[in-house]
Amino acid sequence: MSASQDTVYQATCTAPVNIAVVKYWGKRDTSLILPTNSSLSVTLSQDHLRSLTTARCITSSTSTSTSPRDRLWLNGDEEDINEGGRTARCLAEMRSLRQKIEADNSSLPKLSSHPLHIASENNFPTAAGLASSASGLSALIATLARLYDLEAHGVSQSDLSRIARQGSGSACRSMFGGYVAWEQGERADGADSVAVEVAPASHWPDLHALILVVSDKKKGTPSTAGMQRTVATSALLQHRIKHVVPERMDRISRAIRERDFDQFALETMADSNQFHAVCLDTVPPIFYLNDVSRAVIQLVTELNRASGRAVAAYTYDAGPNAVLYVQEKDVKLVLDVVLQYFPQSAASFPDPFATGVAPTGSKERV
Ligand code: ADP
Ligand code: DP6
Ligand code: CO
Repeated sequence: MSASQDTVYQATCTAPVNIAVVKYWGKRDTSLILPTNSSLSVTLSQDHLRSLTTARCITSSTSTSTSPRDRLWLNGDEEDINEGGRTARCLAEMRSLRQKIEADNSSLPKLSSHPLHIASENNFPTAAGLASSASGLSALIATLARLYDLEAHGVSQSDLSRIARQGSGSACRSMFGGYVAWEQGERADGADSVAVEVAPASHWPDLHALILVVSDKKKGTPSTAGMQRTVATSALLQHRIKHVVPERMDRISRAIRERDFDQFALETMADSNQFHAVCLDTVPPIFYLNDVSRAVIQLVTELNRASGRAVAAYTYDAGPNAVLYVQEKDVKLVLDVVLQYFPQSAASFPDPFATGVAPTGSKERV
């Protein structure tokens, strides 16, 4: 038979990053990815930081002789899909949903029995502490859901978020827009460890996220390995889990509901500081912040002190790059101050005021 009888099915999706204001750091189940504490994040606009993923499935009546396998390219380079690994698990979960639908609808093409070719690209530094695993795994699941037409057959966003969680914990939050909590849950099967919307983006539209790219290098300690080491060695993590995060989740959820920026900023910066303190309490210690990150912390602290109110809230994921949450009325002031103290940033991004609809991102290199 000729190759012309092959049918190509293809889907493309983008997914945004989310930047946590209460950080997830620690797993109680490394296989299902169940966290040791709840977390809360803001999903940024896809106009700025996003993963773009295309998945392709070729059904061929002649393709039975070889043993084709799933393949994945990230930013142009092929990545291994390790057997039993997290990506493989996500693909298996998605296939199994498609298989059930095919079993009930014999007229549908049998996509589940053919290999997938997936290509993804991030338009921002990968593995540098800007949540590429969140947007990346979320884009992967969204793309496969579209390819397999899952939502038309009753698979919910929440079901997809649960699968994305098994690819990278933070990815479960990127399946929703706006302000999103990931409830840690209690069950061993993870059924109640789910992302839920605290408020839509439209609830607090004048909140902006400014991304200060300190370094685009791949981090030395990937998040997965770093948090495992913390769970195994840090007493401070146990204190954080039991005595800090539960109350902070309540307070920051209330601050979001009431659009109380002062309280939001206070909790955000305190949580970032404690997360990095927990990294330092890990044996051997993990250093994600560098001198420039710390200079940005000092700058924001001084700006807030001199202003007599919270003008900006800094937060750092597992990397040196800063995210500043700022209200719309203060975006120009904060960017002016950043450019004054880090003048080289203006050269890389000549239009630093290009912010879109909030919550949104604007990139500065410092
Ligand atoms: P980050 O701080 O960027 O989230 P992590 O250490 O958590 O860093 O995860 C980085 C890893 O996430 C990458 O090495 C890669 O395996 C995966 N990843 C990143 N982007 C994508 C993508 N677009 N598609 C699939 N996997 C991705
Ligand atoms: C510091 O979700 O990247 O960004 O579940 O092992 O893939 P895995 O880790 P990941 O960890 C994110 C850690 C963080 C905080 C956060 O996003 O909540
Ligand atoms: Co990550």
